[in-house]
Amino acid sequence: MQCSIDWSLARALVFALALGPICAMAQSADQPKPMALRGIMLQLDSDMNAVNGAISQKDWQTVAELAPRIANHAEPPILEKVKILAWLNIDAPKFRGFDVKAKDDAAAMGDAAKKGDGQAVVADYAKIQQSCLGCHEQFRQKFIDHFYGG
Ligand code: HEC
Repeated sequence: MQCSIDWSLARALVFALALGPICAMAQSADQPKPMALRGIMLQLDSDMNAVNGAISQKDWQTVAELAPRIANHAEPPILEKVKILAWLNIDAPKFRGFDVKAKDDAAAMGDAAKKGDGQAVVADYAKIQQSCLGCHEQFRQKFIDHFYGG
């Protein structure tokens, strides 16, 4: 079997693993420090809620402005990404798949909004939600257990 992990990734991984305990010591003992991903999720949630409100108003221009924020959402810093990838292991493509799908559907929602096609906007919005839910159902609890648990 061929193991084709590239060296810069491997070095980043070792660095992350070495730094982990040091960062853990620096944190307060009771409350684990929130992952950057959590802040990104809160922003996604707020943008999705804003889209929902704009749909109710048939305000397609606002939807068109919000959609790229979802399609191009922020990413965690490299160290956190490496930790998450190391934890996901062989499930990494599945996890990433949900994210890519959500981004693609958000881009499509933006295009539909620019055309004023309300039905397509609503359909794309539902597709994005399926990716949010799909990833949460499959990974969120395990993620929390791993990164915030004992
Ligand atoms: C690729 C996987 C994935 C996708 C896609 C995803 N999430 Fe999440 N989400 C997570 C994980 C993992 C957590 C747990 C993060 C944590 O607690 O640090 C989370 C947590 C959350 C939370 C809880 C934040 C908190 O304060 O605890 C919200 C809200 C959220 N996501 C909203 C969304 C929305 C809205 C979408 C779709 C636009 C979405 N997520 C798409 C993986 C995903």
